Amino acid sequence: MRMVDIIEKKRDGQQLTKEEIRFVVDGYTNDTLPDYQMSAFLMAVYFQGMTAEETAELTLAMLDSGDQIDLANIHGIKVDKHSTGGVGDTTTLVLAPLVAAVGVPVAKMSGRGLGHTGGTLDKLESVPGFHVEITEEQFIELVNRNQVAVIGQSGNLTPADKKMYSLRDVTATVNSIPLIASSIMSKKMASGADAIVLDVKVGAGAFMKNIDDARKLADAMVEIGNQVGRNTLAVISDMNQPLGFAIGNALEVKEAIATLQGNGPDDLQELCLVLGSKMVLLAEKAKTEEEARTMLLQTMKDGTALSKFKEFLAAQGGDASVIDDMTKLPTAKYQIPVPAPSNGYVSEIIADEVGTAAMLLGAGRATKESTIDLSVGVVLHKKVGDAVNKDEPIATIHSNAENVEEVTKRIIDAYTFTDQQPEKKPIIYQ
Ligand code: URA
Ligand code: CA
Repeated sequence: MRMVDIIEKKRDGQQLTKEEIRFVVDGYTNDTLPDYQMSAFLMAVYFQGMTAEETAELTLAMLDSGDQIDLANIHGIKVDKHSTGGVGDTTTLVLAPLVAAVGVPVAKMSGRGLGHTGGTLDKLESVPGFHVEITEEQFIELVNRNQVAVIGQSGNLTPADKKMYSLRDVTATVNSIPLIASSIMSKKMASGADAIVLDVKVGAGAFMKNIDDARKLADAMVEIGNQVGRNTLAVISDMNQPLGFAIGNALEVKEAIATLQGNGPDDLQELCLVLGSKMVLLAEKAKTEEEARTMLLQTMKDGTALSKFKEFLAAQGGDASVIDDMTKLPTAKYQIPVPAPSNGYVSEIIADEVGTAAMLLGAGRATKESTIDLSVGVVLHKKVGDAVNKDEPIATIHSNAENVEEVTKRIIDAYTFTDQQPEKKPIIYQ
């Protein structure tokens, strides 16, 4: 088989065979195919797309490129959740204890990654003592005992995806539905999930800018999941503004605590209830989505969701008393309000811009080696549809540096104001 023939075939819009797809993925993983041929191949896929069969085969080839986590010793149906990325997405912090509180086993493998804020791991590490350096045996034992544990990414999972994603990043081929779908689904499958709930974000702050593309990506991932025997559902949710109010590591932990008590931001609570209900349903802990939602709301009301979070933090060395005394979480030296530049209504908040503002404060990593400041970030006070008066605070900057001129400007620029009250956008589209 010759790579040049496969590139040509895809360039001309023909369907590749299983053997051809395996040849590409295996060759690239073990360094027998050069970056320039892989780049050309990815660009051909970008323009020509892939059929459902090709996409499923690509996913399986990436899955087989490395190790897979075996969660067979965990009792029950392991349901994982994946979001296609957003700004201030606190859902995992809320969902893990929330669904565990109704008996869904949550065996979360989590990485640090690059972004506006740290990953779920970094956020959890703002709780003093909390750590994810546990053995696989301890991890499995904890999930069986408490229904929830988080372990740092270990082993050699989907090396094909790591290499391909890095190359896509620098060849303008990230935004391809079959490439995104196979990248996400291969990782979810490698980390051992029996069933998967996908949160596909749509809007200015997401990969998918419009509902049609979001639907195509959701359909592609659901189809892969179901073809390979992992029960998969997708929700399409809004990313036309940041989710919730908090963007920052410890700030998001505080927001998650409030949400587990039923006092969180409306959009974050609603998204967690919708995603959580689907997880409960796939784990067969409820018969209908309504029943699942009632169970989850009950755990928020009666305190069991919050107790589950405490139990989970303590089991991994964390100081669970932060939940009753949030001043024990890392706190930035300065809290600086951002004044509204005019009267009116908020009509848009560009999520990426707010994310970059948080990153400039030190909440996220620019390179793998960067250290992050867990205490800093941005808390929004006004969201789309809210009325504002000139000079009223639209957000608060949490910073360890006194000079926040650039960050302030970014936040103000992220907001658009209008005279007429705009319609509130739904958080869930489908
Ligand atoms: N997230 C992933 O993991 N992969 C992609 O290709 C895009 C988003
Ligand atoms: Ca948030």
